Amino acid sequence: MLSKVDNELLTRVGPGTPMGEMMREYWFPVVRSAKLEPGGAPERVRLLGENFVAFRSPDGSVGFIDEACPHRCASMALARNEDGGLRCIFHGWKVDATGRVADCPTEPEARRDLFASKVPTRRYHAREMAGMLWVHIGRHETPPPLPDFEWSALPDDHIQPQRGILRCNWLQALEATLDSAHVGFLHSRDGALRGSQGQRSESSFMRTYKTPRFEFEVRPYGFREAAIRDLPDDECYARIREVVLPNYSLIPRLPGHIGVTVISVPIDDENVIQWYLRFDLDRPIDTQAYLEFGTDSLDPDHFNSDMGDASNMWHQDRAAMKAGHWSGIVGRTNAYEDFVVQESMGPIVDRSREFLGAADVVIALARRLLLQAVKAHRDDRTVPFLGTESRLTALRALSATYPQGESWKCIDAFNPPEMAWASSG
Ligand code: FES
Ligand SMILES: [Fe+2]
Repeated sequence: MLSKVDNELLTRVGPGTPMGEMMREYWFPVVRSAKLEPGGAPERVRLLGENFVAFRSPDGSVGFIDEACPHRCASMALARNEDGGLRCIFHGWKVDATGRVADCPTEPEARRDLFASKVPTRRYHAREMAGMLWVHIGRHETPPPLPDFEWSALPDDHIQPQRGILRCNWLQALEATLDSAHVGFLHSRDGALRGSQGQRSESSFMRTYKTPRFEFEVRPYGFREAAIRDLPDDECYARIREVVLPNYSLIPRLPGHIGVTVISVPIDDENVIQWYLRFDLDRPIDTQAYLEFGTDSLDPDHFNSDMGDASNMWHQDRAAMKAGHWSGIVGRTNAYEDFVVQESMGPIVDRSREFLGAADVVIALARRLLLQAVKAHRDDRTVPFLGTESRLTALRALSATYPQGESWKCIDAFNPPEMAWASSG
């Protein structure tokens, strides 16, 4: 559990809040690159409780500016997308890709340029990487480098970003991605857990051994966590996750399989975007396999748009539950089930009402590290998790078996041990 005060500290992300200010030290992916057409409609973006627009100029360059026109706050999402910037449809002011006012034709011509140069505006940083537009809205002349994960430099056809949109606080979304204990329950009807009893597969391990023990290792970027299940014949099965705080979870995968990184991006206090970024290091990604993994709508910008809400109990099917389906979230995939339980907690869960147990040790660790970080940043502007020793390309999350008596901490995810099973079945 958390005190109400600490819960507020962790969950509030608007301008001027301690977590909001800390979050503004990081880059966030906000929209798929393919969504921004040259000279096309600007895209509204809400991030950390503020409103912006992203756009691609006719020459192909990207811009990211405040949604409110610097003149009298009309939405720049309505603007004309011209060479050199967006032109507000209200009085024709033009704002360039860096947020600077480039023209204000309502002013007398003789003083127009001088006037334009005096209009106060904020400048943001925007770059494209891994098929997404990334932005940095902190008040820095020079932002930190973009995060350098193993997928950061892959060609676009090796990566498929999709995003879900959740009506709940960002920390609820993050915590579900750190929670290995729920997999054998919430997703127990899913393809990932299908397969006959006794078959050596991740499915059978998770279905048979529902009480994993958890170990972790705190690192400069966050932590590594292992959910360990003891198997017969003196073996262990570990799902070793990498968590890059404040908002990345690298999902354990079998050697040679598609990788998944989940990124939780706060829209505001009560809404969050969750990116499911799938990547294949060796070849263009297989779209069909990708769709079967965890998303089931063809809209990559809002794959859970038909998820429902509390008014229809997220389309839960009680008849299917009577017939043996675990969650009743039928015909849907893991992400949907995660989203439903996260939203069901309410917009901002009151963590002072919880009662945590052994399975929640990783959640408690993440909260402790985030609390330390937000307090350090509030008190002396220390920027956590971005140290130069944090080489993110060196991180890979892995599922592995190894002999009991050895430690998962010795496993090299880039040279994993031989395993007598290969498929999640
Ligand atoms: S409000 Fe945009 S030009 Fe006047
Ligand atoms: Fe899940």
